[in-house]
Amino acid sequence: MASRVAIIGAGPSGLAQLHAFCEARKKGADVPELVCFEKQSDWGGLWNYTWRTGTDEYGELVHSSMYRYLWSNGPKECLEFADYTFEDHFGRPIPSFPPREALFDYITGRAAKSDVRRFIQFSTAVRWVSFEEERGTFRVTVERLNDRDTRTEEFDHVIVASGHFSVPNTPAYDGFRQFPGRIMHSHDVRDAQEFTGKRLLVLGSSYSAEDIALQSRKYGAESVTISYRTAPMGFEWPDGIEEVPLLREVDGRTAHFADGTTRDVDVIVLCTGYQHYFPYIEDSLRLRTTNVLYPPNLYKGVFWLDNPRLAYLGMQDQYYTFTLFDAEAWYARDHVLGRIFLPPREEMEEDIAAWRAREAELADPLEQIDFQADHMEELLKEVDYPAFDVQVTRDAFKAWEHHKEESIIGYRDRAFASPCTGTMAPLHHEAWWDEMDDSMSTFLGDGRRRDEFSASAAPRPA
Ligand SMILES: Cc1cc2nc3c(=O)[nH]c(=O)nc-3n(C[C@H](O)[C@H](O)[C@H](O)COP(=O)(O)OP(=O)(O)OC[C@H]3O[C@@H](n4cnc5c(N)ncnc54)[C@H](O)[C@@H]3O)c2cc1C
Ligand SMILES: NC(=O)c1ccc[n+]([C@@H]2O[C@H](COP(=O)([O-])OP(=O)(O)OC[C@H]3O[C@@H](n4cnc5c(N)ncnc54)[C@H](OP(=O)(O)O)[C@@H]3O)[C@@H](O)[C@H]2O)c1
Repeated sequence: MASRVAIIGAGPSGLAQLHAFCEARKKGADVPELVCFEKQSDWGGLWNYTWRTGTDEYGELVHSSMYRYLWSNGPKECLEFADYTFEDHFGRPIPSFPPREALFDYITGRAAKSDVRRFIQFSTAVRWVSFEEERGTFRVTVERLNDRDTRTEEFDHVIVASGHFSVPNTPAYDGFRQFPGRIMHSHDVRDAQEFTGKRLLVLGSSYSAEDIALQSRKYGAESVTISYRTAPMGFEWPDGIEEVPLLREVDGRTAHFADGTTRDVDVIVLCTGYQHYFPYIEDSLRLRTTNVLYPPNLYKGVFWLDNPRLAYLGMQDQYYTFTLFDAEAWYARDHVLGRIFLPPREEMEEDIAAWRAREAELADPLEQIDFQADHMEELLKEVDYPAFDVQVTRDAFKAWEHHKEESIIGYRDRAFASPCTGTMAPLHHEAWWDEMDDSMSTFLGDGRRRDEFSASAAPRPA
């Protein structure tokens, strides 16, 4: 059996991995030594909000891409831990679309309960991972950031859980160098009130573009123009938001689009996605992929084909998040514990190819949801993760897609049933579009509204 396992990152995926091992130990398994390296000073990954942008207190790239007023963009029922439900954590049913602080509280609540913090070395960045053929072990070099102490340790397994929504993809367009306003990536957005009274140009047509456009207008941006590359999102946008084809160039403040139209803008926000970026992993072990549902060279979406003692968690584009990470973590754990055996390389290669061929044929988001649910269920059926009703989550995701089409400002005002307890969520006491306060206490209805919003800080769009 393996004697040492390194886990890189203490976000939702890394915490799921630590928790999975703790659950096995509770049931009597002989669990190897676990060491989790986390470069931030606290856990939660992207959910660990920071006011910082650029570099952190140690000169490291800031990891979190989250901003104030970020609410879950999918129903919480589709990411509920089957062994630690929302009712377990909050003591009562809560609405289906919680703000960031409540989700952070939930993720870290389970981690605290299973006491996984003792395995985590915080403010410790992994600098290099390589494999020593002769010894058959990984060498992991880490730097303790507060005293710059660098050391190398040996491990039998390495589990990469360092996320892939942190390092921005930043395309350039003609005229950017001369643009007289601010150009920034969504990774660096922290507070939409920065855009109050401004005319925004948002590039991109995915979740960040949708959410930053909506909340900028919600908090008082004068107008938002969204420019798409491949296809418009096509929602019925509220007054003040519109979608136009791809940007051609910027001339002074004037943006020129592919359809020949122009708009004068004050700020440009690149909602152009992220790069899978693993500078600390040697070439032969490094995952190279775009943001897809089934990345190349990962058997079961987890194991590095050329060396399955290296696992990657959460590397997919994500409809499912926390439950998918749990499924992957349980599966990776059981491989480490010698409970799951992987087939010969050729078979693994064929399996990956079949999944990727299927992904290439997916026609729409509804098929993508089933694809990812199938992937998750394939893992779940071989591990002892508590049962939950995956069909309920498939249906919820599909209903959510329709709700977004019906009303892009109203889809968060819907309620879903838990796939674990069956309980129907209550509605939030305020419509999302009118709710300016994203604090957990206001969300839970047991706190005072924040003063800054009591006198309507920003002029509101209709
Ligand atoms: C803006 C935004 C909003 C989102 N909103 C939602 C949402 O509403 N609902 C939802 O379900 N999902 C959402 N997501 C998806 C998100 O990917 C997952 O919820 C989740 O955070 C992924 O967890 P993870 O642990 O895989 O990665 P991360 O959360 O990125 O955590 C990775 C961890 O690894 C650490 N790390 C990185 N490099 C190193 C290193 N070299 N050494 C040591 N540690 C390292 C990081 O500091 C971090 O703590 C959102 C993503 C973004 C970008
Ligand atoms: N809770 C929330 O409300 C919330 C908010 C924001 C983000 N998120 C999460 O964050 C994750 C990342 O989402 P994301 O939207 O940042 O990334 P993403 O889903 O990868 O989308 C990237 C977008 O950038 C566009 N793009 C890429 N290069 C471009 C270029 N050169 N010019 C113009 N457009 C370009 C892409 O267009 P094409 O379609 O043409 O490729 C695509 O629309 C998702 O998991 C999402 O759920 C959640």
